[in-house]
Amino acid sequence: MNGKTLVAYFSAEGTTAAAAKAVAAELGADLFEIKPDKPYTAADLNWMNKKSRSSLEMAEENCRPQLAEDTDVAAYDNVLIGFPVWWYVEPRIVDTFLEGHDFAGKTLVPFATSGGSGIERAEKRMRSLCPAARWREGKRLTAGSAAAWAKSLQ
Ligand SMILES: Cc1cc2nc3c(=O)[nH]c(=O)nc-3n(C[C@H](O)[C@H](O)[C@H](O)COP(=O)(O)O)c2cc1C
Repeated sequence: MNGKTLVAYFSAEGTTAAAAKAVAAELGADLFEIKPDKPYTAADLNWMNKKSRSSLEMAEENCRPQLAEDTDVAAYDNVLIGFPVWWYVEPRIVDTFLEGHDFAGKTLVPFATSGGSGIERAEKRMRSLCPAARWREGKRLTAGSAAAWAKSLQ
């Protein structure tokens, strides 16, 4: 990967944050946390409750939660986007971030953490939301595999 790199990540419970920090440290990249204007509570994240905030958001394809703050991606050549898999895809707030920027000509690389689901469905959805970017194949990471994967990107 040539040029300047940003690692942008959303993490509700800290697992993706740890992976994102390891990836950014390995690459010497800048780090940006994608945060909702209203933080998720434990009750919001209860996927067993069909009425919880995360369940309602994920049931609505076009839901786009507001960001607490944004960043300018213009200066970056590469943007790695990390997230937890929610209902087999990326959380809707990641879609807010993707649709909120012009990634044309930039290299985008997704990575995820999950309880076991792969990243493939998220990857397909993200590519369709942001077709002008140059997408590289993404990866589901564990805390232990993050740095080695980042190294393999160089
Ligand atoms: C609302 C919600 C939905 C989830 N859906 C999935 C899923 O479809 N497949 C899976 O393997 N894990 C799923 N998980 C587990 C998370 O992907 C996993 O715990 C992840 O590492 C959490 O990352 P974080 O600590 O950065 O938020 C879900 C968790 C939540 C809160």
